[in-house]
Amino acid sequence: MLQDEVLAALGRADGYVSGEEMSRRFGVTRAAVHAAVERLRAEGYEIVSVTRKGHLLLSGPDKLGEGDLAAHLPEERMQTVRVLSEVDSTNRYLKSLVEDGLPEGFVVMADSQTKGRGRYGRSFVSPAGSGLYLSMLLKNAGSPQGLSDATSYAAVAAARAVRKVTGICPDIKWVNDLQIRGRKICGILTELSLKAESAEVQSCIVGIGINVRGRENFPPELRKIATTLEDENGGTKVRRAELAAALITELDLVRAALPAGKEEYLAEYRRLCVTKGPILLRDATGEREAVALGVADDFSLLVRYPDGKQECVRSGEVQVRRKVSS
Ligand code: BTN
Repeated sequence: MLQDEVLAALGRADGYVSGEEMSRRFGVTRAAVHAAVERLRAEGYEIVSVTRKGHLLLSGPDKLGEGDLAAHLPEERMQTVRVLSEVDSTNRYLKSLVEDGLPEGFVVMADSQTKGRGRYGRSFVSPAGSGLYLSMLLKNAGSPQGLSDATSYAAVAAARAVRKVTGICPDIKWVNDLQIRGRKICGILTELSLKAESAEVQSCIVGIGINVRGRENFPPELRKIATTLEDENGGTKVRRAELAAALITELDLVRAALPAGKEEYLAEYRRLCVTKGPILLRDATGEREAVALGVADDFSLLVRYPDGKQECVRSGEVQVRRKVSS
């Protein structure tokens, strides 16, 4: 759409962009460019227009359209990104496209999800205008083990993107939640599909949800355990398109690093991971008390049980128990 192209051109530029240049680049008349600029203004984008200089984008609403994202990503990268205003689940939608021979690294993101999926069949609350809901197709990560590593690499990637855009350095709660001051801001759901005949990986989709604003609208039980970037950022606005671009860029680095770049991601994962000391471990078999000793080389959690037995736990959920001071 011309409006997205104009917005992307204005967003990428350091200064004014002339109407003539845009009309040439997009193969339309100057009047059409002018009309697109007017439509952007009507949507809340503040654009200064000066004769013989052109148009300058000063500010805009925190929208998550193609033009908003394209302002922060190279044109070539945008070829394999699809931005939707609403979808049931970006993971499900992306999976439905895989059969069509999508390239590795293809991204689907949406302003809202009506059936956002969480781990263990839970839902992920994804209202419009409030968060970043993004899925990326990873195919070349090889074995199922390599792909389970990919989830941990993705946690590091998401932490880096948040740090780059907000300056806040989130913690990782094993296995792949990001949190700030003990409250969750980001969850990751990796979904694998295997080829029935060979059990080889057919597709691996990494889905990442980041809470950006709107904690006041969370259901009460969620408000206790989750927060948003803007609540933790002293109210400073976070631009979702900028965050999305930073996340896509970091996930592209993950793709390039799989599996050989493990050392770097493992070291950073260990540095950020706050799951240490007394924990409550929950899995399909129930709940157990344990002490988390550290993250093993395959990103599993090394724990010691009260009977002294040690084990590397590969899945499940943990709750960090507060140490009782004497
Ligand atoms: C969790 O914390 O349980 C994982 C949440 C993962 C949510 C993301 S949002 C984008 C992608 N699409 C989904 O339906 N889920 C993931």
